Amino acid sequence: GKDMKPFVVNFSDIGIDFKGNHIVRKYNDIKHIFKTTDPTLERENPVIYEVFEGPIQEKEGELMFLITILYPGTVNGEFFMTKGHYHTVENTAEVYLGLRGKGLILCQTKKGEFEAVEIGPNKVVYIPPFWAHRTVNISDEPLIFFAVYPAHAGHDYETVEKEGFKKRIFRGDNGILFVEQ
Ligand code: F6R
Ligand code: ZN
Repeated sequence: GKDMKPFVVNFSDIGIDFKGNHIVRKYNDIKHIFKTTDPTLERENPVIYEVFEGPIQEKEGELMFLITILYPGTVNGEFFMTKGHYHTVENTAEVYLGLRGKGLILCQTKKGEFEAVEIGPNKVVYIPPFWAHRTVNISDEPLIFFAVYPAHAGHDYETVEKEGFKKRIFRGDNGILFVEQ
């Protein structure tokens, strides 16, 4: 806002003096997004991903930025992934910059268009307005990426929970498999 001054966030200080919002999603919080369930994961309830948001107010004119760490693993072969969402203010875009690991961003529109694009170090992904987005970790290390978007965008998780994404991503014998949902 008007009273803000320029500032720096050092994401290597995460856990030390991080000032923003820290969101942690564990397996049991999000297990319904996967095609199958895994009793071992239910028992151990590992963190699937966590998000560190910049200390920014969610209002028009501001830009929210964050770091997501999406851990490696599968649920019976289906790679760990984020819940995914449309922005509540649908006419808002988002930019992702890959920092570590390798993943796919699944994108789809309410009209039924679907695209999967790669994310990783040196890759910037542009998610246009009106496209839902979900991130999948297809590597064996944590997938870490930076994201920035209009701070008033909001997150509509409900539509994705109802309709899902067109495709699910599984580990295959020689690489990855796209499975129609
Ligand atoms: C913010 C955004 C992402 C995700 C984050 C976690 O608009 O698109 O940075 O918020 O990667 O995923 P979700 O929010 O789908 O649980
Ligand atoms: Zn988003």
